[in-house]
Amino acid sequence: MNKVHILGLFPLSTSCDERGNLLIAKHSVPSLADEYGTPLYVYDGKTIKDHISLIQSLLKEYYQGASALAYAAKAYISPKFASKLAQTKVELDAVSLNEMKLAIQNGFDPDLIHLHGNNKSIEELTFALENHIHAIVVDNGQELALLEKLAGDRGMRAPVWLRITPDLHVDTHAHIETSAIDSKFGFHIDNGDAELAIRQAAASRHINLLGLHCHLGSQLFNHEPYKAAIKRILTTASKCKYYPLEFSPGGGWGVPYTPSQSVADPTAWILAVTEAVQEFFLAKRMSPPRLIVESGRWIVAQAGVAIYKTGFQKVLPTGERILSIDGGLADNPRKALYNAEYIAWIANKMNDPHFAPYRVVGKYCETGDVLIQSVKLPEPDYGDLLAVPVSGAYQLSMASNYNLSSRPAVLWLEEDKPAEILQRRENLLESGWWE
Ligand SMILES: Cc1ncc(COP(=O)(O)O)c(C=O)c1O
Repeated sequence: MNKVHILGLFPLSTSCDERGNLLIAKHSVPSLADEYGTPLYVYDGKTIKDHISLIQSLLKEYYQGASALAYAAKAYISPKFASKLAQTKVELDAVSLNEMKLAIQNGFDPDLIHLHGNNKSIEELTFALENHIHAIVVDNGQELALLEKLAGDRGMRAPVWLRITPDLHVDTHAHIETSAIDSKFGFHIDNGDAELAIRQAAASRHINLLGLHCHLGSQLFNHEPYKAAIKRILTTASKCKYYPLEFSPGGGWGVPYTPSQSVADPTAWILAVTEAVQEFFLAKRMSPPRLIVESGRWIVAQAGVAIYKTGFQKVLPTGERILSIDGGLADNPRKALYNAEYIAWIANKMNDPHFAPYRVVGKYCETGDVLIQSVKLPEPDYGDLLAVPVSGAYQLSMASNYNLSSRPAVLWLEEDKPAEILQRRENLLESGWWE
């Protein structure tokens, strides 16, 4: 693992022009901000496509059985974005009725979709069944019983993966750890729930138990817990004489958000999961199951850049400099939720030297609306553009209308092609959902 330079956090097709303007896929960020306004989010198509094909080729290289990459829609999804993904042969991890519908309406074969969630509604389960999505990832005993009934009523067998919680601790923020003994997700191994569910599902007439799944958490940099979880889950299944045809160790591989964080090469992750699954099945002289990894953050985080306009400044009695921007908590709640760290740079002063550290604060009516606690910047003027890299995952998808703000415009950028609008700036007062 090595540390990254600030420009290494930006999308792969980032450069600067001689006037010090940030360019993404050769599009000038100040020109885009002029045309589309701020806050503005941009996605670099090359970064997304390269990241997808890297994981797909690592899986092919290291795994002897069939394999697939699924994209976790919760990281970011929109209709045009889904139609671009549908062309890359990724499968899709969906967690809601709307995510399934949006994906299908925009080119996803239902057989590539897996439905997750700890409290799926009857409507969601019925839609998944009737539209023949690939797998419903059952999370608890009540869901298993309900699904069995819904499938039975329709004379069907529900295609199922069971989500198993390995009761292992992983090193990440508590709010994004999902593998521990107190997790709200999945069938736990320690209390026997996992074994019971495997036996029940395997014996059911209306459940087609295709496989097993786990997801340990997000922003993980250590591959050891994946190996331990895979071994625990497959050992538990083999006690029930059950050997899955499909197996997913989830996603969660992390990305650096600041230059001081390490770069975690996904090769180590893919190598660890492929070896762990293969070893288990080869030791039993069985062919390995189809392996599906589910990545959200690693696919889109680095591809996205948030662009804000700088506003008023002040100096506190403590001497700390405060710089306000025209977005913040409403388009990016990650700092408030997980104390996420970011860096930034001034997109129209890329060649200027550091001037001083600033606390970058949003415009919303919360003291906690701090985007960056301290970042050294060139001297900002009113109306400069602040570019925040690694903004592609779990920001827009968690954005709100706090203070009746409108969600930002979002663009897809590729070299030698005009910018494409993925999302228009929301016009909240005309959005049509208020009486
Ligand atoms: C079941 C499941 N799979 C995959 C992911 C993707 O995680 P990440 O974006 O960290 O790769 C998540 C994220 O919460 C998840 O819940």
